[in-house]
Amino acid sequence: MREETCRPPRLAPQPGGRRQSGRLQTPTAILPTAGPRCARSAWLAYSRGMRLLVTGGCGFIGSNFIRHVLEARPGWSVVNLDALTYAGSETTLADLHESGGGGPGAPASPDATATTTAAAGPGPRPPAARYRLVVGDVCDAAAVEPLVAGCDAVVHFAAQTHVDRSIADARPFVLTNVLGTQVLIDALRRAGPADARRLVHISTDEVYGDLPLDEPGRRFSEDSPLRPNSPYAASKAAADHLVLAACHTHGLDAVITRGSNTFGPWQHPEKVIPLFITHLFEGRKVPLYGDGSNVRDWIHVDDHCRAILAALERGGPSRGGSSRIYNVASGIEWSNLELTRTLLSIVGQDERMIEHVPDRPGHDRRYAMDTTLARAELAWQPQHTDLRQALARTVAWYRDHAAWWGPLKVAGDPINPPAR
Ligand SMILES: NC(=O)c1ccc[n+]([C@@H]2O[C@H](COP(=O)([O-])OP(=O)(O)OC[C@H]3O[C@@H](n4cnc5c(N)ncnc54)[C@H](O)[C@@H]3O)[C@@H](O)[C@H]2O)c1
Repeated sequence: MREETCRPPRLAPQPGGRRQSGRLQTPTAILPTAGPRCARSAWLAYSRGMRLLVTGGCGFIGSNFIRHVLEARPGWSVVNLDALTYAGSETTLADLHESGGGGPGAPASPDATATTTAAAGPGPRPPAARYRLVVGDVCDAAAVEPLVAGCDAVVHFAAQTHVDRSIADARPFVLTNVLGTQVLIDALRRAGPADARRLVHISTDEVYGDLPLDEPGRRFSEDSPLRPNSPYAASKAAADHLVLAACHTHGLDAVITRGSNTFGPWQHPEKVIPLFITHLFEGRKVPLYGDGSNVRDWIHVDDHCRAILAALERGGPSRGGSSRIYNVASGIEWSNLELTRTLLSIVGQDERMIEHVPDRPGHDRRYAMDTTLARAELAWQPQHTDLRQALARTVAWYRDHAAWWGPLKVAGDPINPPAR
């Protein structure tokens, strides 16, 4: 059967979906009545006009994801709920904020997207006209609920994300990463049938714990037990469990992506790659933990964002997949020492610029994940497979954007101080 000859989706109210204002409001509404191929094409038609709620979209991956979605899906609109913590800056999406998108401070109203829609004329609307920032806390149910009710799907990035900060003080990690995720789940349930809006929960490889350095063939699969080692990883694992519990108990339609260490433009200078790059630009030594033997899988943020979008559109049991969890990694494993040497050579420096500092307590040795599922079910694969080249482009980006990262180095912050 050709896709376009499919029986159109039934629009009468039925379990798992509802109709409002003459248009199908939830993709899952059609799934029980149409064959798999029909459901897929109707879902794709539906998804052309998707209203996304993104949490934490002023941070690193969230901001890259918003840019990617607004470019790649011209009919979609995005409401970005961000608390603008130290890690989230309006300047990260300044072009969208300044050229017509909703500026900061907009009320947490369900009309947030509709406002931009109403203002739009005929024809494709530019990205900024399909974007709005709402400044608010994901733990604030009163702010979150109307935003969830006004969207078709949620992509949840908002989190406290720096492992060292979680070792110093775990409380903000428990609040945002655990409570914030439950607030979103509750809002999704209150907004209608639990499966009416898809949640894509952005998680991390760190939930699996670490692997020994001397077993290079071992990798975590989506079925591996969660054995988080840092307070950050423990809070993310707790959130994953809450999402999975809501799927099992309440029928929530959710997909979880577990990404590996990510790098690229707009990453806060507290994280290792931009920290080292910006230190070297400032003529400072780079602080390398221990002997630098810890191994990480590095993925470019563009590849990570494409996987997240694919998980939203194609992932999960309700879209024909077998899993609701997808590992997302490049398969390129480097030790921290290799990474540091490469960055030094890109900026024209040598190992005299390394300052070996005492190791992080409980420092995970190696992360590595099997990505067979994501490649098979999401039709995804990483494109930035030359790590040295991708790092050189990232160095060039930070060279050109000193006005962005300079103010993010904060006096008195032991983790990310400005140059003295
Ligand atoms: N960066 C990585 O290498 C990596 C790898 C895998 C997974 N992840 C996950 O991806 C997500 C995004 O990571 P990132 O590196 O972009 O983080 P980030 O620290 O750069 O950004 C986090 C964003 O969340 C916002 N935020 C924090 N607390 C909030 C709250 N209570 N309410 C609303 N907004 C809040 C911040 O203001 C910021 O804009 C996180 O969930 C993280 O666990 C990151």
